[in-house]
Amino acid sequence: MPQTPIPNFYVDKIPVYGDAILAPMMGFSDLPYRSLCRELGSAISYTEFARAEGLIHNMKRVSEKLEYIEEERPITFQIYTHDIDYMVKAALNIQPLRPDFIDINMGCPTKAIANSGAGVGLMRTPIKVARLFKRLVKELDVPITAKIRIGWDDCQNYKLISRIVEEAGASLIAIHGRTREGGRERDANWDVIGEVKQIVNIPVIGNGDVKVVTDIEKMKKHTGCDGVMIGRAAIGNPWIFSGKDREEVAFEEVRAFMEKHLDANIAFYGEALGINLFRKHVVQYIAPMKTTRRYRRDLLTRETKEEFLVILGQIYENLVK
Ligand SMILES: Cc1cc2nc3c(=O)[nH]c(=O)nc-3n(C[C@H](O)[C@H](O)[C@H](O)COP(=O)(O)O)c2cc1C
Repeated sequence: MPQTPIPNFYVDKIPVYGDAILAPMMGFSDLPYRSLCRELGSAISYTEFARAEGLIHNMKRVSEKLEYIEEERPITFQIYTHDIDYMVKAALNIQPLRPDFIDINMGCPTKAIANSGAGVGLMRTPIKVARLFKRLVKELDVPITAKIRIGWDDCQNYKLISRIVEEAGASLIAIHGRTREGGRERDANWDVIGEVKQIVNIPVIGNGDVKVVTDIEKMKKHTGCDGVMIGRAAIGNPWIFSGKDREEVAFEEVRAFMEKHLDANIAFYGEALGINLFRKHVVQYIAPMKTTRRYRRDLLTRETKEEFLVILGQIYENLVK
């Protein structure tokens, strides 16, 4: 008898199968890449963050970020702004698109965003966070989740913010173990993830510096978190979601996947933009391969799919020889 799979955890009433999740990443976690990662095992799809004001004014480029396919469920729309009214209005506007969750970004450290009081800037205003989450939970039917950091530099109020959002009715917290300025050169602090897990009853997703497959179990063991979010290490290695490190993936599998990813990009964006946006992925896919500088340059300057595949074929021929 086939066994019914057991969910790893629930977000509100929605079961989540699996414990590794592609992080929301502006410019990377778009529909084509997200859905392919989901196919390989990423347990939840998070969109790139979308500015609330853009969603209210129905700006095409912002709304495009929220397109998804059914196979991605559970799908989370991530939004940001500094303003409570805008956030609530934007969330109400996008609710009819039927996301499974709406996630509030309280982690973005980009100066223009954080200094305006959005992203990690929201963490500096705990009372506003409480008001925001209370309103969102009250006015929306869809579960609300939060993505936070340790805090704003010296003000490391991740425990306070976690308690506040849980108390207000949020259904999940994802925490990146860095402060606003916490440079990428320093390791993420996983202890804080464990501390949050200890004080809340909603699921906690840990994030920061999961680089290889064994790190997933390591972070879970270290922190007790329910799931692990993977960002940079998934670029060029979506196979991390199926339990494989990059060196375990055969060259031919990488090649077939690149073609599939390119096709998905072209189907979503059209040929010119699809190829253009694919280039930053290509750099990561081919990084471990011993190719010449000329091939790399050629691959990164192709403008049609046919040209791209010819160069890719040449690279592979040379790898085999
Ligand atoms: C290129 C890039 C874009 C990102 N965009 C977002 C975003 O839109 N929303 C968000 O919450 N975090 C964003 N992040 C942060 C990641 O979700 C994640 O928290 C961070 O990369 C740490 O995880 P990692 O060590 O696995 O990369 C971004 C990170 C990168 C590298």
